[in-house]
Amino acid sequence: MAGEIKRVTTHTLQWMKQHGEKISMLTAYDFSMARILDDAGIDVILVGDSASNVMAGHETTLPITLDQMIYHAQSVIRACQRCLVIVDLPFGSYQGNSKEALISAIRIMKEAGAHGIKLEGGEEVCESIKRITGAGVPVMGHLGLTPQSIYKFGTYTVRATDEEEAEILLHNASLLQAAGCFALVLEKIPAKLGGDVAAQLKIPVIGIGAGGHVDGQVLVMHDMLGITKNFSPRFLRRYMNLYEDITEATKKYIKDIKDKDFPNEQEQY
Ligand code: KIV
Repeated sequence: MAGEIKRVTTHTLQWMKQHGEKISMLTAYDFSMARILDDAGIDVILVGDSASNVMAGHETTLPITLDQMIYHAQSVIRACQRCLVIVDLPFGSYQGNSKEALISAIRIMKEAGAHGIKLEGGEEVCESIKRITGAGVPVMGHLGLTPQSIYKFGTYTVRATDEEEAEILLHNASLLQAAGCFALVLEKIPAKLGGDVAAQLKIPVIGIGAGGHVDGQVLVMHDMLGITKNFSPRFLRRYMNLYEDITEATKKYIKDIKDKDFPNEQEQY
């Protein structure tokens, strides 16, 4: 049908990997921003639990709840006509057991209308992944720096820099693929290892700080647009400096009100 928008699916991402077309992914948490990203042609929107940081102001991703993730996901889904929308299972909503994981995933699919979920971890979450994919829900894995385990790691530093941890990561990546993941996020690991994982797996591998040899890239939207302050990891490319632009606009608005310049004759009834 003329003008019909073709939805990106998990199969599209698989096709893109096979044909060497890189996958673009950004996070979003609300209707207005998600609509801009979707209209701009982003392939995947991740309703990340980074909402806990950039939307709610928490220090970590741990406090955000399943209900709050569903609220963000509902807003994003209403905006998106083309992109694939994946939603993070938040900390505490899936680690208990595979039944709990399935119930959480189903809530996200049913109540938000998401197209799939993401969860963090390797071998320990494989049973849950099998159960969730068995119910027909696409699952994206997440290895490397997994922020929900920040108190185990102790720091947000680069992961798997030594051979032992790199081997474990490669092994876990294969287990996640075998368990049924349709894609994998790799966060903050050496570029060589990112490339090795992407070459080893048939499913697309999307990196954030995992180098250029993976199948796609994801950034947190607030970082990429320069809304976040005092956060400049090496992997981050800022495309705007909205913190400064919004500050300037706000200052100008305040001044215009104080100067009785706003509203002018044309701006009132
Ligand atoms: O929550 C999030 O934003 C993420 C990305 C960093 C991949 O998991």
